[in-house]
Amino acid sequence: MRTSPIVGIFLLLASLATAQPQPQLNLMPMPASVQTGAGQLPITQSFSVGVVGTHDASLDGAVQRFVTQLSRQTGIPFRPKPGEPPTLQIHAEHGRQAVQKLGEDESYELTVTDSGAKLTAPTSLGILRGLQTFLQLAQITSSGFAVPAVTIKDQPRFPWRGTLIDVSRHFIPIDVLKRNIDGMAAVKMNVLHWHLSDDQGFRVESKVFPKLTGMGSDGMFYTQEEIRDFIAYAHDRGIRVMPEFDIPGHTHSWYPGYPELASGPGPYTLDGDGLDPIMDPTRETTYKFLEKFVAEMAKLFPDAYFHIGGDEVDGKQWDANPQIQAFIHAHGMKNNQDLQAYFNQRLQKIVAKNHKIMVGWDEILHPDLPKTIIVQSWRGQESLAAAAKQGYRGLLSFGYYLDLMWPAARHYAVDPMADAAATLTPEEKSRILGGESCQWAEWVTPENIDSHIWPRNAVIAERLWSPQEIKDVASMYTRMNAVSLDLEWLGLTHRSARPHMLHRMAGTGDITALRNLADVVEPVKDYNRWSDAKGPIDFHAPLTRMIDAVYPESDPARHFGDLVQTFVQSGYKDQAAEAQIRMWLTTWRDNDARLHPLLDQTFLLQEDEPMSQDLSALGAAGLQALDYLDKGQPAPDSWKTQQLALIDQAKKPMADLLLMVAAPVQQLVEASAAEHK
Ligand code: ACM
Repeated sequence: MRTSPIVGIFLLLASLATAQPQPQLNLMPMPASVQTGAGQLPITQSFSVGVVGTHDASLDGAVQRFVTQLSRQTGIPFRPKPGEPPTLQIHAEHGRQAVQKLGEDESYELTVTDSGAKLTAPTSLGILRGLQTFLQLAQITSSGFAVPAVTIKDQPRFPWRGTLIDVSRHFIPIDVLKRNIDGMAAVKMNVLHWHLSDDQGFRVESKVFPKLTGMGSDGMFYTQEEIRDFIAYAHDRGIRVMPEFDIPGHTHSWYPGYPELASGPGPYTLDGDGLDPIMDPTRETTYKFLEKFVAEMAKLFPDAYFHIGGDEVDGKQWDANPQIQAFIHAHGMKNNQDLQAYFNQRLQKIVAKNHKIMVGWDEILHPDLPKTIIVQSWRGQESLAAAAKQGYRGLLSFGYYLDLMWPAARHYAVDPMADAAATLTPEEKSRILGGESCQWAEWVTPENIDSHIWPRNAVIAERLWSPQEIKDVASMYTRMNAVSLDLEWLGLTHRSARPHMLHRMAGTGDITALRNLADVVEPVKDYNRWSDAKGPIDFHAPLTRMIDAVYPESDPARHFGDLVQTFVQSGYKDQAAEAQIRMWLTTWRDNDARLHPLLDQTFLLQEDEPMSQDLSALGAAGLQALDYLDKGQPAPDSWKTQQLALIDQAKKPMADLLLMVAAPVQQLVEASAAEHK
């Protein structure tokens, strides 16, 4: 059979098309089901959206924001042509609940062809989620902006996907919170857990107890008007706002205004005196106060869930108070835990009377509490499984603490259904509602909080939304970095804050050499910054050091480590990898000479001098190691010993920073001194 030339070319193109790898879709969270099709939908100036089915103000607002965002991302000022069918057609069967409910349907289906797109969902909440997917799909191509042809059917794995933001240790203004809400919505998170009071500051206006903020804050708090506006803002974006008032511990800020609530005599001032004061659960006046307080806050916050904290209750004041000890004995209690359980039972009744469901940290888990409460696990995954076994619903935060400065991959590996939860029965598993990342605010300010939350928060969002099997780390990093760029279009400053802060430190415009250093360091991990602080933290001190400016995870260091890995695995033959490794090492070797004059000039950089010198030494060591490897002669032992000593030095934290390229350079040095066949 003869094939006509045109058909032949067509067949050739078709076979080429099928042989090509599927383009990576930069979606995060990855949808439950994605099928790519042929072609793409161009995003042009005539782009338009049509809504059929349910129409409400919330949906109209969402569509408006979506169009604005797409226009911002693409730079195209849209001018739809009247009379033409919409590019994107939206159809929601039903509207949303006035107060967003846990478990409200968030599913959607998105179909994109080369001629148009259709987004359908049972509720307009699902439409909100689908619009975010569309925004992530819009990519620049050689011929313009376009969305690839695709069929997506999506719904969340867990109904509770939150982020906690602590606004007590450092006050975080509403505008900063709003841009973080936008970020959360972009990655389909649905709960902001607002940690509103702690030892360092009480942040909500109470009209009933005005001294809570009057004497328990530095004047920085949210008015009730601001709170209502913020809750509406979050609701528009499909996000519930759950308040937390942490009691009976973490309550220092309550006592300057209301010392009668405390278990010790005081006096109390906001600036703290190391007393770790806690609430007195033995006095009826405490419950009278809480009755009024919870009633006021329950009205202000419409969400059905009310977080009472309950963590880290330091019993020193209870132990020292004879009246409290007498109460414990008189009620047949064994210890302080029993007293806290008694407090929680009374508190739970107050919360329930106000039509709210009580949520607390895992310390509150106690069989005397009703099964309606929710337990939030932060001390380990075991408590999540234990709660589920006992009939309680639970949330996982252990493993999702953003303030611990872990790499994204480490958070990504934590799954609410893994570890102790893996062996639960299906019924017990159904009690695990999801989880929350936590941004505790000891070491953040409005200037750098975004970079502590993003982009790593997106991978926790994916863990909680996407199917459990989605866990390829390389794909995660590629998609996280793509989404990270999109997030800045929302006004988040997680990338743009760093150059500003480096400029401040440098006091000059040319920060190239400083950036080379900042690129390959990370803050110390876990609670090591606290232990290095040696003494109480001054929460009013500036956070303007290098550790405050750098990203929690160094991409360049990770890439360098991967390159060294590739080179080693090639038996030291991959010349392209070697050339790149040499380029990095040369930059680092020569960097201290460029940076040194600057380091001397500004007080904010002096502490980074040893780090800069170590980076240069690592660069030189790595280059020498490559020279030995190229010659095929093992490096002398004496040289190796010397290099390993300096690498050991470079691995030690300096100025609360870790030099992340020390380990891969060590790998090169060790390889260069070994015998190779
Ligand atoms: C906590 O981190 N203390 C809940």
